[in-house]
Amino acid sequence: MSEAAATIVEVMPFHAGMEYFDCLSRLHTALAPQRYLEIGVWRGESLALARAASLAIDPHFLLDRDVMEGKPACHLFQCGSDEFFAGHDPIALLGGAVDLAFLDGMHNFEFLLRDFANVERVCHPGSAIVLHDCLPIDPRITHRDPSEHLRLDAVVPGWWAGDVWKVPALLKRFRPDLTMIAFDAPPTGLIVITGLDPANRSLNERYGAMVEAMMNIDLADYGVGRLFELLAPRATTLLDDPDALRAAMFR
Ligand SMILES: C[S@@+](CC[C@H](N)C(=O)[O-])C[C@H]1O[C@@H](n2cnc3c(N)ncnc32)[C@H](O)[C@@H]1O
Repeated sequence: MSEAAATIVEVMPFHAGMEYFDCLSRLHTALAPQRYLEIGVWRGESLALARAASLAIDPHFLLDRDVMEGKPACHLFQCGSDEFFAGHDPIALLGGAVDLAFLDGMHNFEFLLRDFANVERVCHPGSAIVLHDCLPIDPRITHRDPSEHLRLDAVVPGWWAGDVWKVPALLKRFRPDLTMIAFDAPPTGLIVITGLDPANRSLNERYGAMVEAMMNIDLADYGVGRLFELLAPRATTLLDDPDALRAAMFR
């Protein structure tokens, strides 16, 4: 391959919908969850949107705002999500199953796969789990290694989505029973998953095979266009219509 050909990278247009914080805010309004769980909190911008009793996990909180406002309770666990689930019961902490969860922790796909499986187990059939960063527009922001020097040629070098895009691709294949709505939310998409089955253990049973199947595939080889075709992102305007949103989520 010539040097010029080697530099051609398939990139999708920028997502045209509402920013993901605005999407999350509308989801909180439409679903009015009583119990909220968040993995990956950082400064607390997404956690601050919740008005429910909340449970938030991050090994290194850098809160720079009031995350308590409007919440009856907020449990903060400063540890990795695997460590949290190994030692704590979210249902006992929150007084019931989780209604809404936002998964935005470690951006290597096997972590998100475990987070999804662990969270689904503490949800109920009417809950929703939201995944962040799974619709990256540029393969150059999807390295497993977050080092900035790997992203210098990317359309927006400051973004790092990791390889969590593999999780919805795997769920499409291994959990066709789930309902998945992908939104064109900048910067890197938002995916809302419903039709959850807390008793389903297939992700745990097939975890090794799923990780092996995707570990060595990168988005440039898989095809970013193919990923968008598979997940078929919808306009975020659906979030402005709570009845239509609920109808799409809970078919
Ligand atoms: C992108 S930031 C979260 C941003 C936040 N959700 C928001 O939208 O404002 C990712 C966070 O995941 C945390 N994180 C990294 N590894 C983690 C793990 N194993 N378990 C939980 N959180 C983790 C990082 O410390 C970081 O604060």
